[in-house]
Amino acid sequence: MNFNPGSHPVPTELRCEYLREPLGIDVPHPRFSWILSHPGKAQKQKAYRILVCSDLEQALRKNGDKWDSGEIESPQSFGIPYSGEPLESIKRYWWRVVWWNTAGKASGFSEPAQFGTGFLDGSEWQAPWISMKNPEEFISRGTVILGRYQGDYVQCLGIYLRKEIQLKAEVERATAFISGLGFYELRINGKKVGDAVLDPAQTDYDKVALYSTFDVTDMLTQNSTIGLILGNGRHIENYGYGKPKATLQMEIEYEDGSRDVVVTDKSWKASDGPLRENGLYFGEHYDARLEMSGWDEAEFHNENWEKAEEVDGPSLSSQMMPPVRVERFVKPQRLYSPTKGVYIFDFGRNFSGWARLKVRGPSGTKVELRYAELVHEDGTLNTATNDGADATDVYILRGKNRESWAPRFTYHGFRFVEVSGYPGAPSLESLEGCFVHSEVEHTGSFKCSNDLINRIHENVVWGHLSNLMSIPTDCPQRDERHGWLGDAHLAAEEAIFNFDLAPFYSNFISEIQLSQTQEGGLPDIVPGYLRSLYPADPAWGTAFITLAWLMYQHYGDERILADNFDSMRRYIEFLRSKAEGNIQKTLGKFGDWCPPGSIASKKTPVELVATWYYFHDVVLLGKIAAALGKKDDEKIFSLLADKIRSAFNRFFLRKDGYASLQNGPLDFEPSQTSNLLPLHLDLVPDDSKQQVIDTLVDSVIRLNDCHLDTGIIGTRYLLEVLCDIGQAEAAYKIASQTSYPGWGYMIAEGATTLWERWEKREGGGMNSQNHIMLGSVDAWFYKYLAGIKPLSAGWRRIGILPHPLGDLEFVEAETSTPLGRLAVSWKRSEGQFELTADVPVGAEAEIGLPLLWEDSDLYDSGRKIRPEDGGTAQFSVSGVNNDRILIKTGSGKYHFLILAK
Ligand code: BGC
Repeated sequence: MNFNPGSHPVPTELRCEYLREPLGIDVPHPRFSWILSHPGKAQKQKAYRILVCSDLEQALRKNGDKWDSGEIESPQSFGIPYSGEPLESIKRYWWRVVWWNTAGKASGFSEPAQFGTGFLDGSEWQAPWISMKNPEEFISRGTVILGRYQGDYVQCLGIYLRKEIQLKAEVERATAFISGLGFYELRINGKKVGDAVLDPAQTDYDKVALYSTFDVTDMLTQNSTIGLILGNGRHIENYGYGKPKATLQMEIEYEDGSRDVVVTDKSWKASDGPLRENGLYFGEHYDARLEMSGWDEAEFHNENWEKAEEVDGPSLSSQMMPPVRVERFVKPQRLYSPTKGVYIFDFGRNFSGWARLKVRGPSGTKVELRYAELVHEDGTLNTATNDGADATDVYILRGKNRESWAPRFTYHGFRFVEVSGYPGAPSLESLEGCFVHSEVEHTGSFKCSNDLINRIHENVVWGHLSNLMSIPTDCPQRDERHGWLGDAHLAAEEAIFNFDLAPFYSNFISEIQLSQTQEGGLPDIVPGYLRSLYPADPAWGTAFITLAWLMYQHYGDERILADNFDSMRRYIEFLRSKAEGNIQKTLGKFGDWCPPGSIASKKTPVELVATWYYFHDVVLLGKIAAALGKKDDEKIFSLLADKIRSAFNRFFLRKDGYASLQNGPLDFEPSQTSNLLPLHLDLVPDDSKQQVIDTLVDSVIRLNDCHLDTGIIGTRYLLEVLCDIGQAEAAYKIASQTSYPGWGYMIAEGATTLWERWEKREGGGMNSQNHIMLGSVDAWFYKYLAGIKPLSAGWRRIGILPHPLGDLEFVEAETSTPLGRLAVSWKRSEGQFELTADVPVGAEAEIGLPLLWEDSDLYDSGRKIRPEDGGTAQFSVSGVNNDRILIKTGSGKYHFLILAK
């Protein structure tokens, strides 16, 4: 091939294991990905060459001394595994890539990008875990229940650890590897290292803890002090984890080529300090009078600090995903005083995080911040939806100058903060909201001409971000915040359209795998620390297979399928062992959770939902087997799926549609969910199909006046099924209703995120104002209103089938694919429909332009096209049916116009 450097743009957005310039890679064959751009149309990568170099100099000389892949003829531009010389632990590498386009011309080499390794072999981690001998006392807060499944909440005060070190020479590079359970803050010479908060990610600490990697070269001085603060997080007695602890290994490379390793051990000093209480649910108590000025700097008198003790700890793995951070600041919109000395700050919307307090006053003044999602009619704080979570931060003033404080080891879900004890009257500047969540990249956008739909989208985005807290959580405010698997998978597709979740879900899937029992069962929540929640309802356990499949579909990640295949098969084996006559009669607990008017699956039998997910997962694992080339397994799963299908129809299908389990405990009428689920997976025998469709449509249109009557499970598929059976207008009406039940109703009633229930309920119990499990509607906006979907793994084939429904005049949507950005917009007016698509290099798009008028003409960038000619040099017209003109394009920007004659 022709090497003609610079003939088209070099690859950009170089990533290693999904991250830009990551440190701490702990897999031997990390995967490389890049994005291509090209001004021309129908461009593909014909070949690539990757260089991995041991230092920047080699990289600049284009000498791939660790790996030179040579010119590989392949369109693959993501997920290419390293296959050079074995990588070494704790090293930095540089890499570059060049690509050849369709015409065989080479780009220039990309700019060098860096990646660093962590511990490729776990035994290289030398640092023991340390803690404080007796962190005074464990404080028991008897009132707090853990997600209503456990007893009292026991926590420990904040632990401070310190160590002074002397450097031997000029430092070339220093890297800190650290884990601290539940949460830690690492400090060097008086400054916080990095900007992560609530680190590390939550795991089942009996099995694994994650370490983070920081380049601390610039923070070290000849005499340096390393400080650590430890908080409880979920590392608490109730889950059997004991007191907080930390392990740190700092690798120092000197300019003269020598090295030093600093580790946590008994020589560290430990103390308590100003952080008197910290609990995930009940908040933080900080007494600034007890601050130990200079404790994390050299020459501090630590005579009354005790020796740290070494303790046991779990094995470690690198945290290969973006950390939790304060992602943005939110200004309060309103400040008022409902009663004397009590002030309410209204931030205007619900979110996760905390408020930073700014205050000045006498030493010892106690300021209390109580967080809540709601206020009562009289304006006072309504904390009912926090349930057992106290959600209260207390700050006791130091008493000098202006003070600024925010909690470290807790977070809240709130819109309102009540402040009491403030010296004098606070102003709007006295509190600043900090929106805290896993810092995922925002990769999607959606906008249309219907403001309500835009607001639903916005609420979903805020709600989803509030529930990304290193694991996908159910809610941020009450005494739960667990990784409920049902909530996680139901909203996952919407999340993937909006954010880059590849590293986040990779991590979560590993955690699901770790939670698996010997028999193959999974828990309802992951990390699986609540032992009482085994085995999962199949509608929750499906997250394992469903999330892995979404990773494959959207990010083209085949490794995740291969790495988890055996465990997924064991999960299916587990489901099979529990089935009776291929029906899941015992595993279902929640079913179509939270339908209108109820928490429980009132109209849809849990057995039906559980068996449907059993079928769903068997079918999906069959597809996964096919993707991995495991033909025998594919066959086995397809036979099993046939058996479940027959049993499902035998047990649940009646003349008027799907309803109760035969001889089941309760007699159910055919519900929307009972009927839409089998339609979605094509389970319905041909001769019953029309009846099942009629039953569903009758319920939607006649009985419910275009409102849903579904819980979280049915809601996930309802709108898609309606579109697929020719009832797209009804789907749009449901999505844009402002009356009960529906998303628009929530908004009309003041919701700024999504509620847990369809009802407006502001009391205690299951009434969170910020749950994400009904957020799947947003995926429907992308997939149906904008019309974009991956038709093959990794979006190599892209479907663009817009639905101009109801009053919609335009839709604009963007999302990112592993091949690059995909943007689609359409607009319509009297006798005119226009579509613009920007298709990434390497992809092919299959576009279905809607035919809205009896007779119309097609134009491509202003030129009239006769569909019967089969297209142009740029694209082909592959067919015309009643509803659409079907067009196939390669990459590039396209603009089509349809004009009514
Ligand atoms: C959680 C849910 C979860 C459910 C399971 C609730 O308490 O908040 O979102 O999926 O329990 O039943």
